[in-house]
Amino acid sequence: MGENLQAPPEKMPRHVAIIMDGNGRWALSRGLPRLAGHRAGTENLRRVIRASVEFGVEYLTIYAFSTENWGRPAAEVKGLMYIFEEVIDRELDELHQEGVQLRHIGRLEKLSPKLRKKVLAAIDLTKDNQRLILNIAFNYGGRDEIVYAVQNMLRDGISPDEVNIELVSQYLFTAGTPDPDLVIRTSGELRTSNFLIWQSAYAEWYITPTFWPDFDQEEFAKALETYTQRDRRFGGVSDEFYE
Ligand code: IPE
Ligand code: IPE
Ligand code: MG
Repeated sequence: MGENLQAPPEKMPRHVAIIMDGNGRWALSRGLPRLAGHRAGTENLRRVIRASVEFGVEYLTIYAFSTENWGRPAAEVKGLMYIFEEVIDRELDELHQEGVQLRHIGRLEKLSPKLRKKVLAAIDLTKDNQRLILNIAFNYGGRDEIVYAVQNMLRDGISPDEVNIELVSQYLFTAGTPDPDLVIRTSGELRTSNFLIWQSAYAEWYITPTFWPDFDQEEFAKALETYTQRDRRFGGVSDEFYE
């Protein structure tokens, strides 16, 4: 575990999910174009991925592009698509060497064939890696995920009596992945913005005013430490009341 993380390993979250927000405001505060903020955001992502490997996080899910982000100006959407492609080209080999397994959640259909091909090739190349599972939520929306799950259940002829929490979970993009223990949101917004709305039912939330490009290893360690001090009750009562 990293030297700057003071947390008992058995209390560490297995699955951390991050809403990487605030790239635009980071850029604005420096008089830069928004896309410069997105570029700086990808640089930071690399730091946080490495820190996750170092800290022993098993699953890291990152919100990179939401189903609602298509509503941004065309130039920004185009820029984000380009940056995503660039990141795959630049980082894939190193991530693979470090034992990172890439997965995608969301819909690939709407992406350009070129980008889709790159994402699928990256998933295929890294499929046997086990050090860190990195789920990239790109063109992801929690409501869209649930709609898609219901459509597929109906297509598969599932009967109403068969539907339960486990079955629904198996029809989501995250099938087979444990629910996130900790959701981090940078840049201070107090909302889910349609991220993992089913899976985060009992996640702990950590929200920091820091903009995503400035959310460094130290801040990440602080978020993890804070998590290890929380009392997760899942609707129950703490043992201490019955001692
Ligand atoms: C998050 O940063 C990245 C994406 C949504 C793609 P924003 O672009 O939302 O930055 P702010 O919230 O405008 O500062
Ligand atoms: C959430 O951030 C989406 C991503 C980080 C990819 P947004 O910036 O899109 O969320 P809102 O619009 O502030 O809710
Ligand atoms: Mg934002």
